[in-house]
Amino acid sequence: MKRFLQQLLGAAALVCLAQATTAAPSYVGVKVCTKCHDLYGESWAGTVHAKAFDSLKANTKAEEKTKAKLDPAKDYTKDKDCVGCHSTGFGKPGGYALGKDPGGPEKLGTVGCEACHGPGSDYRDEHGTAEKKLLRSQQSTPRKLLVSKGQNFDYESACAACHLNYQGSPHKGAKAPYTPFTPAVNAKYKFEFDKAVRTKALHEHYKLKDVFTGDPVPKVRAEFQKTAKEIPE
Ligand code: HEC
Ligand code: HEC
Ligand code: HEC
Ligand code: HEC
Repeated sequence: MKRFLQQLLGAAALVCLAQATTAAPSYVGVKVCTKCHDLYGESWAGTVHAKAFDSLKANTKAEEKTKAKLDPAKDYTKDKDCVGCHSTGFGKPGGYALGKDPGGPEKLGTVGCEACHGPGSDYRDEHGTAEKKLLRSQQSTPRKLLVSKGQNFDYESACAACHLNYQGSPHKGAKAPYTPFTPAVNAKYKFEFDKAVRTKALHEHYKLKDVFTGDPVPKVRAEFQKTAKEIPE
């Protein structure tokens, strides 16, 4: 009996180990990021992305919904065909799940930091570690490390997954559920990355100390850094 139990425990440990080494990075929520990036949090909170979940509630944006052939009196907050693009990491490890409190401790019921920057479980600690390394020994950390930990730098694809996900869209990966708000409904829903990325829909940009270095450098980085605000000490 003892031997059997030992084998059983051994097998369980192996399963745990396998899961720990192969687990994909998971979503941790806005509040983890804003512990360090508080100014980004404040600026992001005023954007349409931070309020995207509210648009799914009954009797909000009634005119827009009617034009897109949706029912303005209906509550769409638990509709799996809607929440995917109005929340963060829907259906993925750690991400938003149907019925969860959208404003709960992780605050995943919004289009949060990780919707654009990628699931943060594995890279969140690298940011603080790399800053300490810079302060201690003037050494920057390769940005490639962040990519290997799941941080996303391909912003164009991240935006496209929500903004260009409709039938007949130029985005090759488009698949159901599609957005009801397409350029055919209203020309204002046409999404152009180069314009959209320069709007107030993201957040204020702040001067970086170059804690990270090397590829992939986002193509808008140099331009944004030129006019970025200083983070007050
Ligand atoms: C322990 C504090 C800490 C946490 C937690 C944290 N960051 Fe950072 N982050 C930093 C520091 C420090 C830098 C380097 C800033 C610089 O270069 O001046 C950084 C850099 C970044 C950068 C720029 C990287 C580059 O290309 O140079 C992004 C984007 C970012 N963080 C997003 C996030 C997101 C999203 C989260 C939550 C999942 C997060 N951070 C969590 C401290 C943190
Ligand atoms: C998880 C899905 C998702 C991602 C990823 C996403 N967005 Fe959005 N975005 C939305 C939703 C939903 C709205 C509408 C919010 C509302 O009004 O409810 C929106 C609104 C906007 C608006 C305002 C539209 C207008 O007509 O004023 C802009 C601009 C925008 N997003 C740009 C971007 C850019 C640029 C990226 C990529 C860097 C991006 N978004 C990534 C879902 C997303
Ligand atoms: C594939 C992603 C996606 C899905 C699925 C999706 N949306 Fe959205 N939704 C968006 C994006 C992106 C925008 C912003 C469009 C813009 O302003 O350019 C948006 C905007 C909206 C708006 C605001 C429109 C305006 O003019 O202010 C409402 C309301 C909305 N969605 C409701 C819904 C409802 C209800 C569903 C389900 C029936 C749904 N969405 C499904 C991506 C999506
Ligand atoms: C809708 C997409 C989107 C959301 C949501 C978003 N970001 Fe960003 N973020 C971007 C883009 C695009 C850039 C510009 C690319 C660059 O230079 O890194 C950027 C840049 C940054 C940078 C680099 C320096 C700078 O100021 O440009 C940091 C740090 C950062 N974001 C943190 C955050 C945090 C923290 C949150 C959540 C509170 C967040 N972001 C939410 C898209 C987004």
